[in-house]
Amino acid sequence: MSELQTIIDNSRSIVFFGGAGVSTESGIPDFRSVDGLYNQKYDVPPETILSHEYFFSYTEEFYRFYRDKMLCLYKKPNTAHLKLAELEAAGKLTAVVTQNIDGLHQAAGSKTVYELHGSVHRNYCRECHKSFDAQFMLDSVGVPRCDCGGLIKPDVVLYGEQLDDYTVTKALEAIQSCDTLIVAGTSLTVYPAAGFIRYFRGNKLVLINRDPTPYDGSADVVIHGKVGEILKEITV
Ligand code: APR
Repeated sequence: MSELQTIIDNSRSIVFFGGAGVSTESGIPDFRSVDGLYNQKYDVPPETILSHEYFFSYTEEFYRFYRDKMLCLYKKPNTAHLKLAELEAAGKLTAVVTQNIDGLHQAAGSKTVYELHGSVHRNYCRECHKSFDAQFMLDSVGVPRCDCGGLIKPDVVLYGEQLDDYTVTKALEAIQSCDTLIVAGTSLTVYPAAGFIRYFRGNKLVLINRDPTPYDGSADVVIHGKVGEILKEITV
């Protein structure tokens, strides 16, 4: 912890790269932990349901799962989200790059957030591009449709879909130009997102994760623990 505090004190441009483990202390399960979404029993594996193919082939079933498991709209930011917003306000953190789609970093006050996998808070009609909020999607029944009759799709990167070019470019720029990269709450197993940390050129790579990751060996500091509890101890 004292090493992490020293690194943060000496950093002028921190970037935070996070995953589902950043939101578990807000009550949103992650995907691959033993109690994660992908280890819960379903007729169809969640990774199949959350795919481009399944969305268009079994839209009603997709939305049943999506409303039930992916729309956690009443969860609040935890100390990890709040501390990161504090570090940004203090001019020490330049960007949050997240794989999460829950919007909790923005809810905590973070301004520069690159959502590599999109957000449940953005939903668009595929015909007229009218936008709808997450509450509309949660309240919808069956397949949500626009008043023009078009199918509404969440702005979330499903398996088999491309990441947004602009978001990727900005996230990589941030990672390439920061002096400290803090990676937390991610199993670093889903590409291309997991490969982004290879673009880091700065001084200190810090990995905070409850379970070991494939990148533990290349980090300067590895802390196995809960990121909310750990960041709570940091003074800005
Ligand atoms: N503090 C620190 N680490 C935690 C915490 C916590 N409170 N809770 C869970 N973790 C760790 C787990 O040990 C696990 O290694 O967070 C990691 C979460 O890994 P995943 O569940 O694989 O989530 P993530 O890495 O974000 O998944 C990447 O996969 O399905 C896709 O698009 C989805 O964005 C997601 C992507």
